[in-house]
Amino acid sequence: MRVVIIGGSGHIGTYLVPRLVEAGYEVISVSRGQRDAYQSHGAWNLVQKVVMDRTEAEKSGDFGRMISDLKPDIVIDLICFKLDSARQLVQSLRGQVQHFLSAGTIWVHGHAIQVPATEDQARQPFGEYGIQKAKIEAYLLYESRRSGFPATILHPGHITGPGWICVNPAGNFDPQVFIKLAKGEEVALPNLGMETLHHVHADDVAQGFIKAMLNWRHAVGENFHIVSPAAMTLRGLAESVASWFGQTANLRFMPWDEWRKTVTDEQYARSTWDHIAHSDSYSIEKARRLIDYQPRYTTTEAVYECVNWLIEHQVIVI
Ligand SMILES: NC(=O)c1ccc[n+]([C@@H]2O[C@H](COP(=O)([O-])OP(=O)(O)OC[C@H]3O[C@@H](n4cnc5c(N)ncnc54)[C@H](OP(=O)(O)O)[C@@H]3O)[C@@H](O)[C@H]2O)c1
Repeated sequence: MRVVIIGGSGHIGTYLVPRLVEAGYEVISVSRGQRDAYQSHGAWNLVQKVVMDRTEAEKSGDFGRMISDLKPDIVIDLICFKLDSARQLVQSLRGQVQHFLSAGTIWVHGHAIQVPATEDQARQPFGEYGIQKAKIEAYLLYESRRSGFPATILHPGHITGPGWICVNPAGNFDPQVFIKLAKGEEVALPNLGMETLHHVHADDVAQGFIKAMLNWRHAVGENFHIVSPAAMTLRGLAESVASWFGQTANLRFMPWDEWRKTVTDEQYARSTWDHIAHSDSYSIEKARRLIDYQPRYTTTEAVYECVNWLIEHQVIVI
């Protein structure tokens, strides 16, 4: 079976591509060729790399045909962010592929109603990213149920692993938060630190895709949360991180408006807001039941790997 993976050299692809090769698939990875996977692996020698800029190819209306020309049996789309992009691809692949898997996001939910949220809860997305992803999800599910287009949507949590900065206990990407916790210095958290984050190790995301392919009958026409077994509070994650360094977390809690003033980097403040406004917490029961998804990593185990890598690569210097 020939698998075309669009965006195969990033967080997910680093783990998914070797897993696909090991499982015996013929793999074609499509990207702009600007970056390599986070970890080298011999499997990449067996992968055909096709250089293509999706944004440019979509502008000329050629992207769908270019993917179709690769003659895939299965397409894994890891970088679809607009409804029109999904439409263009589906129109070109209709009747050609046995399985089409798309990376969504837990942020299709927006404001959850009951937590851990299940896949069938009404969507209330906010922010352009979540809104577009929810539209893509609705479109793919509709096409799957209406015309038999064999789509599956997987919604990862905050993707974590060695090689990049993961979401920290303050809900942003500032490595200083890890450093302060490691040193026992004070870390301010917004509100009561009880809002939640839901990480997932990138290898578990890869597992989710493989399991969905292997359980095709139960996966087609379905959406799945692909997250760690349980979300964590900001406070709980901060306490865990501090404990790895023999520290007791020295936490200070501040109402959002006050906390916001302590953060000078606009991007970090926005990121925290996005994370606490979503306060992610999702059920994986459907993925366990239908596709046998069994995450290897808890949230703390995934973040531990990330922090270890940051120390080894001196992003975190204690
Ligand atoms: N990161 C998270 O925490 C998170 C959480 C939930 C959901 N998701 C979803 O996961 C997906 C992203 O997966 P990821 O984190 O593995 O991605 P990633 O690490 O950002 O990697 C992106 C991949 O796409 C390629 N790429 C980027 N722009 C391209 C373009 N215009 N044309 C062709 N290739 C392009 C990149 O290679 P080149 O740069 O060489 O082209 C790379 O292979 C998205 O759908 C996102 O919504 C992510």
